[in-house]
Amino acid sequence: MVKLTAVLGDITTIKCDAIVNAANTSLLGGGGVDGAIHRAAGPKLLEECRTLNGCETGKAKITKGYNLPAEYVIHTPGPIWHGGSHHEEALLVSSYKSCIELAKAHGCYHIAFPSISTGVYRFPLDKASEIAVKTILQCCKESSQPFTIEMVCFNENVKNYYDAAIRKYVTV
Ligand code: APR
Repeated sequence: MVKLTAVLGDITTIKCDAIVNAANTSLLGGGGVDGAIHRAAGPKLLEECRTLNGCETGKAKITKGYNLPAEYVIHTPGPIWHGGSHHEEALLVSSYKSCIELAKAHGCYHIAFPSISTGVYRFPLDKASEIAVKTILQCCKESSQPFTIEMVCFNENVKNYYDAAIRKYVTV
């Protein structure tokens, strides 16, 4: 069971159980949403990330949220787009799956995702938005406890893709 919506906004302002960070494999911060989350959370986030010894692409690791309104941050390195013949789609599915599994394990049922891999990592938005929505619906289908999940889109263009994917796959 999941209530899945796309919202326009800055993920660092979302009050929920866990926000997802589109990280890199070092987990030591970067630009984009990764940079924004580290800036908003404060230096203790990086201190905790340093203890995690990085994270493989498509996997996920969890930390506290520190100064963020969210209780936790779930960090996942999505795949870098290399044209589609390097298992990028499977790795993006794995990122969303790993985040939801980790959230469930920590009792987090209100989750905010950014549009993973569609910025610096150049994953095409049309493909990424459909992968995200289909994977989230699939992962939450069996859950006895309902999820509330927001795709937090940083601009209207991104939100249009997620709205379209939700219209296409969410049966009311
Ligand atoms: N809130 C929500 N979404 C945001 C925010 C924010 N504050 N800032 C950026 N975004 C959006 C971008 O507009 C894009 O749609 O997040 C999406 C993902 O873009 P990136 O942050 O560039 O992430 P990604 O493409 O997964 O690349 C990850 O970039 O920042 C580095 O360390 C990071 O190396 C890693 C790589």
